[in-house]
This record gives sequence, C-alpha cells and structure tokens, in this order.
Amino acid sequence: MSSGTNGSGPAVGSDRDGAAGGSDRDGAAGRSASLAVDGLVAGYGEVIALDGVTVMAGAGSITAVLGANGAGKTTLLRAVSGMIKARRGRILLADHDVAGRSPEQIVRAGIAHVPEGQGVIPELTVEENLRIGMMSWRRGPRAGRVAALEEEYARFKPLADRRRKPASTLSGGERQMLVIARALLARPRVLLLDEPSLGLAPRVMAQVMDLIVQLSRERGLTILLVEQNARSALAIADHGVVLNLGRVVASADAAILATDVALRHHYLGF
Ligand SMILES: Nc1ncnc2c1ncn2[C@@H]1O[C@H](COP(=O)(O)OP(=O)(O)OP(=O)(O)O)[C@@H](O)[C@H]1O
Ligand SMILES: [Mg+2]
Repeated sequence: MSSGTNGSGPAVGSDRDGAAGGSDRDGAAGRSASLAVDGLVAGYGEVIALDGVTVMAGAGSITAVLGANGAGKTTLLRAVSGMIKARRGRILLADHDVAGRSPEQIVRAGIAHVPEGQGVIPELTVEENLRIGMMSWRRGPRAGRVAALEEEYARFKPLADRRRKPASTLSGGERQMLVIARALLARPRVLLLDEPSLGLAPRVMAQVMDLIVQLSRERGLTILLVEQNARSALAIADHGVVLNLGRVVASADAAILATDVALRHHYLGF
C-alpha cells in the first residue's frame, strides 16, 4: 500500500508572498494558496486523535480526506482551523505556519471551515446567517459587503429568493449551500468541508459535489473535502488521503485510490 506522505500534488509554497500573517487579507483574496499539514499531532485530553499526520494540498486542488468513523478526519479539520490546538507539527498556508494561531486569525489568514453538521442558525434569516461569514472583515465600506452578498446570491439563487426568510425554512441542500456561501464570504483561499453530503438525497449530493468542483476551478480554492462517501469524493478530487486511527495509511492520486481494491475493502467501504 502506498503510504507516502509527500503526495503527488503540486509543489507546496508556490505563493510565497501570501497574507497568512493576516495583515493584508484583502490583498490575499482570490489568489490560490497551498496547504501543507506536516507531522500534525492533536487530540482531546489523553486521546491522541492525530498522530503525525502529513497532508500536502496543492494550490487550487481538491484533496479528499477519507477513513472510517473515528479515524481523525474531523479532528484534522478542527486542528487546521485552530478550533483545537496542534500539539506538534506545522500547518503551512502558502509557506506561513499558522499552527498555534486563534481561529479568528486563521480565518483572516485565508482558511474557512464548514464544520460537520452544517451549523446554520435556524432562527436567523438567511441573510443574517450569511453576514456571520463577513465578521472576519476588518475594514471596508458597507457597499463592499453588500456587493459580496450579491455575488453569493448570484451564484446561489435559492438563497437570494429566501434572503429575508428564517434559515429554518430551507431544505437540507439549501442549508448546505448557505453554510458554504457563508464560508466563502470570509474570502478564503482554503476551504475545509466536513461531510457536506451527509444526510442529503443522492441528487442533491451530486449538486453539492458539482459546486465543490466549480469553486475549485473558478475561484482557485484549495479544498480539503472530508467524506464518508469515498466514491463520490474521489470522483471529484485530485488527491486522496486515507486516515486510520489518527495516521495516514494512504496518500495518492484520487484515481489510483479509487481503483485500489485492497484499500477500498479495508478502509473505504466500496
Ligand atoms: N470532543 C472529543 N473528546 C474526546 N475525544 C474525541 C472528541 N472528538 C473526537 N474524539 C475522538 O477522536 C478520535 C477521532 O475522532 P474524529 O471525530 O476526528 O473522527 P472522524 O474521522 O471525523 O469520524 P466520523 O467519521 O465519525 O465523523 C476518535 O477516537 C474520537 O472518539
Ligand atoms: Mg467526523
């Protein structure tokens, strides 16, 4: 089994003058950035949930993060977004180590996280939910915010039609759109998605997968896509990483992982 941790994606650090320091995040918007997780150790109290995990995601690529329940997929995204602290290792956004920074600083540096279980606030309107995505903006005229919202409404028509309605009125697929649009409003260069297809009907799930591809192609976003549905994730990903008990057990081109019978049998369930 290939267990290489160097990956075969594009070289890390192609965007040396990125704004991972957070001082000029507006200048960073729209430019692709690589993400390199290097020897990451993280956990909860006595539990070591990630034990030296290395993932290289080239700028503008989609990396599927796969593995069984409890493998450490969610913990990886939590550690990258600063929700839990990395105990060891580096998290390089375009060469700048963001390990140890606060979640707010990491959002400003250009990493947005769509957590497991969606996180829509049902009592707030669609637009109020979306505005949360712009809380990391430090400055800029009101007009800039309105324009940013309109840009997302143009892409996500169902959200535009319901902007004044409570988010509780949205379908599962529309809620997933809402949380992705909210993350995009932080103007990220890296998007972390935790099981975006969970609980969605197959047709809606296919739409979400198409959307992820569009975001990577059109906005140059670097995407880490955590999925239980390995087949769907590998179908759209460039690269795949399989975790088991907090360790990387395989890292290879998505097409190679998708055809690896032993791997599919042992870790991917298809
Ligand atoms: N809040 C927590 N406190 C203690 N242990 C936790 C906590 N969250 C996760 N763990 C443990 O960390 C390990 C990794 O869990 P994690 O949620 O990252 O897995 P996962 O791959 O996302 O699984 P799933 O597919 O079920 O979402 C597991 O052993 C889990 O029990
Ligand atoms: Mg999880």
